[in-house]
Amino acid sequence: MQDQAERLRQLVGRLNSPVVLEKSVPIPSHCRIITVTSGKGGVGKTNLSVNFALALAAKGKNVLLFDADMGLANVDVMLGMMPQHTLLNVLNGQKTLSEIVLEGPGGIRVVASGSGGVQELADLNETQRGKFLEALLELQHQSDLILIDTGAGLHRNVLAFALAAEEVVIVTTPEPTALMDAYGMIKVLYREKHNPVISVVVNMAGNQIEADEAGKKLVILSKRFLNLEVDYLGFVPRDPAMIKAVREQKPVLLAAPSCPAAISLTRLAGMILSGKSQRGEGNLINFFKKVTQIFGAKNHG
Ligand SMILES: Nc1ncnc2c1ncn2[C@@H]1O[C@H](COP(=O)(O)OP(=O)(O)OP(=O)(O)O)[C@@H](O)[C@H]1O
Ligand SMILES: [Mg+2]
Repeated sequence: MQDQAERLRQLVGRLNSPVVLEKSVPIPSHCRIITVTSGKGGVGKTNLSVNFALALAAKGKNVLLFDADMGLANVDVMLGMMPQHTLLNVLNGQKTLSEIVLEGPGGIRVVASGSGGVQELADLNETQRGKFLEALLELQHQSDLILIDTGAGLHRNVLAFALAAEEVVIVTTPEPTALMDAYGMIKVLYREKHNPVISVVVNMAGNQIEADEAGKKLVILSKRFLNLEVDYLGFVPRDPAMIKAVREQKPVLLAAPSCPAAISLTRLAGMILSGKSQRGEGNLINFFKKVTQIFGAKNHG
């Protein structure tokens, strides 16, 4: 865990690249950007992102679900969608963003990143990064919330989105390894961000006691060693209906809306909406600046 935190810190320490946007982009008025991430892989980020997006849309929000897992994109797979074009086509200049945004179920809009090892954002050249940021800026005008599903842990793309968004939801399971990796991520966000807003969700919990114990452990560790208030949002139980829904390529909220996981997910989405993490204007400007800097680190550092 120490190693992971240290490596992330070193990555962040090498930031320096500005990117010039080709178009002038108006300053956004409001739009929350929430990055969903984790220390350990396979803990349920994509499932939670997809179902949070649906639950938030059901509560009347205009939601954009952005798949930032460029290596192993699977938001589209989980939604049973087969996008013909992805973000990669936008970055290559073959498509505009509005041409690749997909209408998902429940009124959500989806930006697919493309499955199967597409180019990493960190490997894009400066023109492509500029295009990417312009694309994101376009999108926020039509959205109340942008939910960004990332990969896990140490990856540069993950780090970029986790550091750039003002609000981060860290997903963990109750397992000690997942918890320690989650704490590793919290530590990095604490060190690299001013006043980070971090929530924790414990997924695949056997029961509430186990979940609360895990969630509170992260809250206590963060308070004791970092003096950082981390918000334990709650838990999603381990639920066979979730596994079945994934196999059927349907979000559990639509496939089995009254199963325990779906009920928890809807409740947690309500907490995200009403949570302390709501911030005013200015999120996006910082967000894009930071994403740009971090994506630039590899080519310039
Ligand atoms: N609450 C749950 N109950 C039971 N199984 C679950 C639950 N949440 C997730 N899963 C299972 O865990 C698997 C991994 O979930 P998911 O793909 O969302 O994780 P991830 O964190 O996005 O993974 P990666 O790090 O590879 O992106 C799912 O395919 C599903 O079978
Ligand atoms: Mg995933």
